[in-house]
Amino acid sequence: MKFSKFGQKFTQPTGISQLMDDLGDALKSDKPVNMLGGGNPARIEAVNDLFLETYQALGNDGSFREDINSTATTSMANYSNPQGDAAFIEALVGFFNRHYDWNLTVDKIALTNGSQNAFFYLFNLFGGAFSDEKSKSVDKSILLPLTPEYIGYSDVHIEGQHFTAVLPHIDEVTHDGEAGFFKYRVDFDALENLPALKEGRIGAICCSRPTNPTGNVLTDEEMARLAEIAKRYDVPLIIDNAYGMPFPNIIYSDVTLNWDDNTILCFSLSKIGLPGVRTGIIVAAPEVIAAVSAMNAVVNLSPTRFGASIATPLVKNDAIKDLSDNEIKPFYQQQAKTAVTLLKKELGDYPLVIHKPEGAIFFWLWFKDLPITTLELYDILKEKGTLIVPSQYFFPGVDVSDYQHAHECIRMSIAADEDTLAKGIAVIGEVVRKLYDEAK
Ligand SMILES: Cc1ncc(COP(=O)(O)O)c(C=O)c1O
Repeated sequence: MKFSKFGQKFTQPTGISQLMDDLGDALKSDKPVNMLGGGNPARIEAVNDLFLETYQALGNDGSFREDINSTATTSMANYSNPQGDAAFIEALVGFFNRHYDWNLTVDKIALTNGSQNAFFYLFNLFGGAFSDEKSKSVDKSILLPLTPEYIGYSDVHIEGQHFTAVLPHIDEVTHDGEAGFFKYRVDFDALENLPALKEGRIGAICCSRPTNPTGNVLTDEEMARLAEIAKRYDVPLIIDNAYGMPFPNIIYSDVTLNWDDNTILCFSLSKIGLPGVRTGIIVAAPEVIAAVSAMNAVVNLSPTRFGASIATPLVKNDAIKDLSDNEIKPFYQQQAKTAVTLLKKELGDYPLVIHKPEGAIFFWLWFKDLPITTLELYDILKEKGTLIVPSQYFFPGVDVSDYQHAHECIRMSIAADEDTLAKGIAVIGEVVRKLYDEAK
């Protein structure tokens, strides 16, 4: 069968398709797998309990059942309009206005089928072919001010790839008073001197905060500078807040979250523990919300209402925030501590440096001068039943062929239970020690 160019683009092997296949295969496998590779959130008892209670209440309150004698419309028996479930959007407006001074109105929020779906829309809205005032075609890209960045961005453009990426400054830092850590920082000199920025070939700036894959949290000062640059060049600043505050709030550094009409803020219900309900939330200027709603109509008719129905009561009574503050954040903070201890025990005497854990559900490990690439390391670890993700996939817009650092890191999830985490780190330790020892 012959596929169109569009079909060929979306069916070629990609980093994200390999990752999702590995994840699916590991979950189906009857052999034990130390799954440190995927982006699944952890199983946390209090979280599961609350969601179960909420599902049960939904079953009883008529959300799933259309009452033929009533004119009221139940959420599951009807499409919402393309902007998304109105009751959830209203609850979100109230929630954000209670906790932030953003003055939101319902025309500033749209829902999508997961935030991955939102990035597909946004990156195609702001990246690709544009017409300038003289109707000449200009190719614009999404500026990623700090790579490494989220693997899922790489292949979302309908045609080609439209990224301009800035490589990081690497600072050695301490963590809880200990050495052996580093932190990426935005290289603003390189960013401000980008020809694409100066020549009007950037359509939007985007960063994940906390960052998948590194667990980095851009500082308030870095965010303020990015917001200023975005305004100066009249492009939106897209903030991917999948792990950020106020939910799931997997963020340990003391920072704030700002929004204004030039900011497109993306949230997700996935990392609070509901990746299966596929619900993303976009907070943006009405013009962007109208564009996203129009795309929803074409691609999905209307976004799913299941996640919206579960989350509406939790947003109305702030349970989503309490759960994030009191269960989800402390859980990952403890996992991060455990992972540091295990890694130091396995590889403390070897050239491992860990990105300072500031948030998200991942560790980013840098094996300095590793004798093989981490893509090769990935294969060895996979053979031994431990899954991680090699670093080279996390540099959208960068030619990694001559950037050694992009071949020396791995992303490791810390969402697994403690036993799996310990076993997986033990395998990583054994393999990496052998590689360094044999190269001496
Ligand atoms: C940084 C980041 N953004 C977006 C997504 C997409 O999440 P979802 O589509 O499940 O909302 C993920 C998923 O892992 C992520 O890590």
